[in-house]
Amino acid sequence: MTSGDWAVLVEENGKTYVVELVDQQVKIKGLGVFNPQQKLADVTVDERVEIGQKELKRVAPRLPELSRGMVRRAQTIGSKDAGFFIAKLGLGPGDSVLEAGIGSGGLSMYIQRVLGTNGTHVTVEPRGEHSEVALENLQRAAACWEETPNHHHIEGTIEASIEAIKTVSDGFHAIVLDLPEHPSAIQATAELLLPGGRLACYCPVSSQMERAWEACEAAELSVEWAGELMEREWGRASKGGMRPVNGPFGHTAFLLVAQR
Ligand SMILES: C[S@@+](CC[C@H](N)C(=O)[O-])C[C@H]1O[C@@H](n2cnc3c(N)ncnc32)[C@H](O)[C@@H]1O
Repeated sequence: MTSGDWAVLVEENGKTYVVELVDQQVKIKGLGVFNPQQKLADVTVDERVEIGQKELKRVAPRLPELSRGMVRRAQTIGSKDAGFFIAKLGLGPGDSVLEAGIGSGGLSMYIQRVLGTNGTHVTVEPRGEHSEVALENLQRAAACWEETPNHHHIEGTIEASIEAIKTVSDGFHAIVLDLPEHPSAIQATAELLLPGGRLACYCPVSSQMERAWEACEAAELSVEWAGELMEREWGRASKGGMRPVNGPFGHTAFLLVAQR
């Protein structure tokens, strides 16, 4: 597929739609029924188009847009934590990365954006209804971006997939675990880390982080960083000046990074 096969459309309020340019009537949630090929093929990036009652702008299919318009099922990792993982794990072109579970593929899109065509990304997920959504998001990314890594998806739990993973890659520069039970996953995968490689855990509650820390030590990985990131957005105040925007000051997860 080429990048011309998908269009990303944004409403004034930021709502984003990722639409496959098929030549038939389809129903797109939020936009209604229309023929995407006929309606959008001649609309260039930055041009506006009316669909039903809505006015939308076609935008370039970059990571923030594909991420905002992604199909969702399981809870996803967003830019705050994904960016930190990429930096702390030192991910770059040519790296091999193991990720479980894939969930909706939220984090997977960030990982695939930096690995280049020589990178290897192995994802593992036991729930078919989750991987179906994630693979759709990754298919869109592969169609829209010039460079994406070799991707292998394995159906199953990470603990039961070690032999299958080894057939794809001898070792990994990084492993990322976003699943409910970190200790058994850490125990099973620590041996797959290349020397100097790092393992990261995404832990919604602190007890998970504590158990992940203990499991890393038991697997002879040294914990390099554990904690959480706080993000505070600012905006223009109505009477002038700038101030933190109103709204909840939320929690996503505790993060832990350990090194072999
Ligand atoms: C919160 S979701 C991951 C979300 C993902 N990081 C994203 O950004 O879209 C957690 C996933 O872990 C999967 N999972 C649970 N236990 C697992 C295991 N033992 N091995 C692999 N995946 C597992 C679940 O099925 C679920 O899809």
